[in-house]
Formats: sequence, C-alpha cells, structure tokens
Amino acid sequence: MINKQEELTELRRAILDNNICPELASQAKNLVMGNGNVDAEIVFIGEAPGKKEDEQGLPFIGAAGKFLDTMLAEAGMKRSDVYITNIVKYRPPDNRDPSSAEKKAFLPYLLRQLQIIQPKVVITLGRHSMEYFLPNAKIGDVHGGSYKIKFGGSQLLIIPLYHPAAALYNGSLRQTLIDDFVHAAKVHMKE
Ligand code: URA
Repeated sequence: MINKQEELTELRRAILDNNICPELASQAKNLVMGNGNVDAEIVFIGEAPGKKEDEQGLPFIGAAGKFLDTMLAEAGMKRSDVYITNIVKYRPPDNRDPSSAEKKAFLPYLLRQLQIIQPKVVITLGRHSMEYFLPNAKIGDVHGGSYKIKFGGSQLLIIPLYHPAAALYNGSLRQTLIDDFVHAAKVHMKE
C-alpha cells in the first residue's frame, strides 16, 4: 500500500500530466501543492499562490503566511500540526483573483487531496475556497462558524475564516481572524 506522501506525489504528477491550466502553468515557476503534516486533523485551504509562494513552491510564506503563523501561535499550534494548501495551485499573473474556470479545473485535485489526507476539519481562508463547501454563504455572516457536511462518505467540519491577507489591509479584521481561529482550534479538539 502506498502512503499519503506518495499519493500526494502521484496527484502532483497527475496535475502536470493532465496539463491543468496550461496558461497559468506557462507563467508559473512552481506548482504549489501544499505543505505541512499529511496526517493533520486540520487542513487550511487558501486561494492561490502569490509571488513568494510561486518562487519557493510553498504555500503561505509571504505576508499573509506570516499572519497565518501568528494565528497558529495564538492557538498554541505550529505549521507542522496542520496541512496548508490552495484551491488553485499555480500563481495567477499579477496576483489577480483565480477565475471560475481555474477553480473548477483544480477542484477535483483539491477534493482528492482531502481524500488522501482525511482531515477532521477544513478551514477555508477567504470566499474563493469557502464557496465550494458553503455555496451562497456570505463570509461576513458565517466566519468562525462550524458547518458539518458529508464528504466522501464521511463527515467533515468546515470552518470558514476571512483570508489572512484581508487582515493586512483591514486592521480590525486581525483580531476577528485570531479569535475565529482560536475558537476553531477549540472546536476541533472536541470533534
Ligand atoms: N494567499 C493564498 O491564498 N495562498 C497562498 O499560498 C498565499 C497567499
């Protein structure tokens, strides 16, 4: 039986072999699959890699990632306790929002990634990653809440948060994000 890491390596290979989003791929330096603990109970899903992430092939290592580290630290956690990925795994040029077609193209791979890792809790960061799990929800209404959904035959808890980059532009969201995540970490302990 192959292990989770090998399955994730195969998934990466499949994205390359199936030529997913060739336009993004042609402009990107790296395919940013995700990183962290493949046995984690919590998986974070962001939007798409930015410049630094593209350069180094790792998710959330720029300014938004630094704030994500602060959120983790406030809840007594480290990156190695969680797994972090994005819906779209190539950097969109000039950091534009990923298009619907790009999100749709990567969705089967994101879902497979979750099936491999089998987390208890998925924390969506921002509306792009929230909208698949909680269609029609408004982030301002649902942030920090816990929503049980059926996923691949088992239950999954979705906790939508604002995107950490939003806290960089809007200082008042900083504490909201920290409070929401500290609460989410407690909810996860009870699951
Ligand atoms: N923003 C994201 O959504 N993902 C990253 O990996 C970095 C910034």
